[in-house]
Amino acid sequence: MCSVVGYVGNAYCKDLLVEGLSRLEYRGYDSAGFACLSADDNRLMYAKSPGRLIQLKELLDKNPMDGFIGIGHTRWSTHGTSTQENAHPHFDCKKRISIVHNGIIENHHTLRGDLLGKHLFVSDTDTEVVAHLFESLCAQYATCKDALLALAARIEGAYAFIILDNESPDQLILARHRSPLCIGIGEGQMYAASDPIAFAGKTNKVVFLPDATCAIIKKDSIELFDFKGNFLPLEVKTVDFAWLGAEKDGHEHHMLKEIYEQKRAIHATVSSLAAMGDTLWSSIGLTKEQSRAITSLSFIGCGTSWHAARIAQFFFEKIARIPTRVLLASEFRYMPFFPEQKSMYVAISQSGETADTLEALRLVKDMGMATIALTNVASSTLVREAGGFLLTHAGQEMAVASTKAFSTQVAALYWLANRLALEKEIITPEQMQAAEHDLFVVAQVLEDTIELYKHIIVETLAKRYAHKTKAIFLGRHISYPFAMEAALKLKEISYIFSQGYPAGELKHGPLALVDAETPIFLFSHQDPLIYQKLVANAQEVKARSGHIIAFVFEGQDELCKLADQAFVFPRVAPLLEPLAMTGVMQFFAYQVAKELELPIDKPRNLAKSVTVE
Ligand code: F6R
Repeated sequence: MCSVVGYVGNAYCKDLLVEGLSRLEYRGYDSAGFACLSADDNRLMYAKSPGRLIQLKELLDKNPMDGFIGIGHTRWSTHGTSTQENAHPHFDCKKRISIVHNGIIENHHTLRGDLLGKHLFVSDTDTEVVAHLFESLCAQYATCKDALLALAARIEGAYAFIILDNESPDQLILARHRSPLCIGIGEGQMYAASDPIAFAGKTNKVVFLPDATCAIIKKDSIELFDFKGNFLPLEVKTVDFAWLGAEKDGHEHHMLKEIYEQKRAIHATVSSLAAMGDTLWSSIGLTKEQSRAITSLSFIGCGTSWHAARIAQFFFEKIARIPTRVLLASEFRYMPFFPEQKSMYVAISQSGETADTLEALRLVKDMGMATIALTNVASSTLVREAGGFLLTHAGQEMAVASTKAFSTQVAALYWLANRLALEKEIITPEQMQAAEHDLFVVAQVLEDTIELYKHIIVETLAKRYAHKTKAIFLGRHISYPFAMEAALKLKEISYIFSQGYPAGELKHGPLALVDAETPIFLFSHQDPLIYQKLVANAQEVKARSGHIIAFVFEGQDELCKLADQAFVFPRVAPLLEPLAMTGVMQFFAYQVAKELELPIDKPRNLAKSVTVE
């Protein structure tokens, strides 16, 4: 989840690489580094710093350096803590080779053992091993390409790296296995980065390195080859993208801006899906007949995306009558797999780059199964590798805590469940239209209820709950996965220990945690039977002096009375309850973290795009 950037060309590279890193800092922010060859005499110059990119910028201001070729890195620590020594770039003993890397070299221990004695290691990282190994291989092989192929044959794991070799000052050396890496083609200049957003605005001509390939780039040429050394044709894509991420539109944090963008994002997503007409089928890689014949659905994802899929399970089972499973990508990969030919596998990921989700998709594809990617990033690896894809239109999400990506995933899946139901003639075209209308209505509710409750949250509630040490989140039926998402939102930005439970499980253990100090968030449901069960759970909590914050729907007075604090929501279409409650839930978590003066957009230890397993 580190980011790598590189440049070779006619321009000075320091500012543009630092700008590229600032766009990719969402991928990791434990440390940062930059290296270039001096424009005068090709001397290696570098700076690295623990902490945020801003600290590297300060270092570069104090020690100016620049050149026409350079590399940069922001780090999310995997091997070794955030120190100057562990920051990238890493070097070989003679500082001939500089390398920036995203991924994990799994056999680094063995390689380090082989190199010890002949090489001096200064960091704890797996990456430094690659620098020393490559330097040895360069001494053994006649060409850079042969040394690179020998390197690829020796290292195991996931990697995207960019190497700067002082002895070849006009070229950068790239290799990719499982981690993303792309090249931007400019006029007399080449860019390399983990994500093309790093060079958006400079060029829109992009080569995404296929998996298990290497490239040698000069300012006006690219050599691409596989790990056997076979040259590969370049597939140059025109990527239509713009960098808008830095703007916060007057909000203090990206997260707040993104919370407020949800109505627009849901509209954009639903409208674009509705406008697809029959192109839907080619996009998801199925014929209409195949879609009618689907016997089961499996969703695979992580974190918030997994929660969105857990919510959507109710849509597909209740509306489209398709048995649905929701799998955690990181677990699925190590469990027995029983492929079903008429099943459809949907990999769900905001970024489209999550390593566990990608690996799970590859596994399913290798079994010959049909796959769809549901993602927010059209240029992502998931889109390129899945059999078909559907896009959410949340716009770029900058805050690490997912907000609008989550609500658009839920909206897109609600739409898709209805669309499949229409195809299977379970619902009529009028009901399909009503479903779209319901999504627009709930988007409005999401926004209106933030307005309704924002003052009490800011002025009273955030202060009241910010210093709690733990919180419990309860739901039933579709509000249970929503409770898990709410718990994740609070814990990741406020660091308050938060746990989501199915309310019915309370008496099987978690009730022992209930006391007057622990806030219990309870998410209601409109179904009368489920509602009554939730009321009973609330009574159990109150009987033990528990403190309840209830999210209820209009007319649910009994639950309202049991609550110490209640948020009341207008009634919405059945199954859209979680979307109605999403805005207030996220705003509440945001304000608690703000009250604690925490770095909301970049919480400690986390990163936006989880490209390591
Ligand atoms: C939490 C959050 C994460 C991501 C997870 C998967 O707010 O954003 O839990 O949902 O890391 O990421 P994607 O959706 O990019 O695959």
